[in-house]
Amino acid sequence: MYNIVIFYVTVFIFSICTAVNDYSYLINTTQCTIPNLPAFYHSWNNYTPSYPISCSSFEPVSYITVERDVVTLHIRTEVIQKQFGNSDDNTCCYSVISRHGSVDYPDVGYVFSSYCRSFKNSARLYDDTVVVLCHNSTEDTTNGYPSNFWYSNIHQVVRRTPNLVRKAELLKESSRKKPISVLIVVIDAVSRLNFIRTMPKTRDFVTQNGFHEFRGYNKIDDNTFPNAMAFFSGMNQNQSVDICQPWTLDGLNNCPLIWYDYRDLGYITAYAEDWSDIATFNYLKKGFKVPPTDYYFKPYMDSLRFLRTEIQDGMPFCAGPESQGDRMLNLAFDFAKNMKGLPSFGVFWMNTFSHNVITTPKTMDDKVKQLFQRLKSVGVLDESVVILISDHGIRFGEILNTTRGYYEVRLPMNYISLPHWFKERYPDETRNFLDNAKVLTSTYDMYMTLQDLLVLSGTDYKVKSSRACPKCKSIFAKIPNERSCSDAGISNKWCTCNLDLDMDK
Ligand SMILES: *[C@@H]1O[C@H](CO)[C@@H](O)[C@H](O)[C@H]1NC(C)=O
Ligand SMILES: *[C@@H]1O[C@H](CO)[C@@H](O)[C@H](O)[C@H]1NC(C)=O
Ligand SMILES: *[C@@H]1O[C@H](CO)[C@@H](O)[C@H](O)[C@H]1NC(C)=O
Ligand SMILES: *[C@@H]1O[C@H](CO)[C@@H](O)[C@H](O)[C@H]1NC(C)=O
Repeated sequence: MYNIVIFYVTVFIFSICTAVNDYSYLINTTQCTIPNLPAFYHSWNNYTPSYPISCSSFEPVSYITVERDVVTLHIRTEVIQKQFGNSDDNTCCYSVISRHGSVDYPDVGYVFSSYCRSFKNSARLYDDTVVVLCHNSTEDTTNGYPSNFWYSNIHQVVRRTPNLVRKAELLKESSRKKPISVLIVVIDAVSRLNFIRTMPKTRDFVTQNGFHEFRGYNKIDDNTFPNAMAFFSGMNQNQSVDICQPWTLDGLNNCPLIWYDYRDLGYITAYAEDWSDIATFNYLKKGFKVPPTDYYFKPYMDSLRFLRTEIQDGMPFCAGPESQGDRMLNLAFDFAKNMKGLPSFGVFWMNTFSHNVITTPKTMDDKVKQLFQRLKSVGVLDESVVILISDHGIRFGEILNTTRGYYEVRLPMNYISLPHWFKERYPDETRNFLDNAKVLTSTYDMYMTLQDLLVLSGTDYKVKSSRACPKCKSIFAKIPNERSCSDAGISNKWCTCNLDLDMDK
């Protein structure tokens, strides 16, 4: 036993030394070296990984199908039969959910319509967010709602609407070039190394299917809000506060967030975030007085509180019979699939299986991999730029006391896929993109990239330099090899270049 420990410690120290001193650098440019730390340390063997928890022991009783513009709500009578006995004794009803905040917090809250409409087996839906309740048919529901329901679930439909299709078609006709759709999938608090450790199936799938790893991707501030603002607006925390005043009612609606440009130029836009209570633009802030994007899923996510919540590692993992993560992955897929062929810009930001504990992302590895498989199978990867990214590494736990934790919290994962047609049409941009995957990049560069995609889309959009980082560049432009942290808008506190840290710590 003792010998084995000595052996591991020796291997451990040896691998660290070689990583730092000899041959292996993640980034090795004139102004920036970052050591290529191994994802796995022997001490990781002591970590108990979290195992998936199942949110329901049987298939959800209700589900939705979308065929062109016909949306149908279905009941699985065979599941009722099996789980709850005679399905004739049971009946289900649905009710419509709408956004319904207070005067002070218009972005928080939901309301059910005044009655619950009974249906048998299936019903055509004309609304997009519905709650389904199933109950004993002898219960009198003339007052509107059953009180003794034994099943509840909430569904969100993502369907094309004529107005949005018209807007997007107009952009296609007026653009000088083919508009580029963008799909952004965010898993909060996942470093590049933790992605390698906890989501190996997803990582294998994306890297084998054309995603490029931006391995020198460095965050610019501590937590989600400033990094999200840097990504969507090119501003730092102070500028965001001064210019957007997120504590005032109209602040974030009058804030230069890139998705407004996409929306106003004709793209169909979407924003979704799970774990409503800590949502990026709502936590200690006012949120959006009016929905910021064409599709805005906050009311849906808020309404999940009505369902049974099951906590995993301190996070609201299950919302009723489905996990919040599954719900987000389905939204991302439905949006990308149903808007396919039209210019779209969608952001799907997940927290509920990654935010608190370093091992929990493992519980969703299969499901996240399936999202990318499904996106591939319906052709989204052939059409859109797809970004799988995080805002920072894990911000809790004992890893923060180690040198590798110091690196990991600063170096979030960033994987980007370009469709084949883009690479053919833009060989110079593609070459820069491949080169830049190996240099230091920052969150502000991503803002410049999202602007560049509007220009490459042939719109009249005029690029603005990032307020916090005037030298930052789109990853489709040539980023100089001699780039330093300050060139990339990264302050000393967050910089991972040229550090001389005690690697045994
Ligand atoms: C890092 O770059 C320098 C300068 O180009 C080069 O001499 C050195 O061999 C590189 N080191 C590694 C480990 O690649
Ligand atoms: C429904 O309620 C009636 C009356 O309370 C009861 O006799 C019956 O067993 C119930 N059926 C189911 C499926 O629970
Ligand atoms: C932001 O504002 C605070 C408080 O006014 C100040 O101490 C800090 O230096 C500012 N940070 C930056 C990056 O400007
Ligand atoms: C980090 O180390 C300090 C000092 O040993 C300790 O008090 C603290 O609890 C540790 N933090 C974590 C998150 O392990």
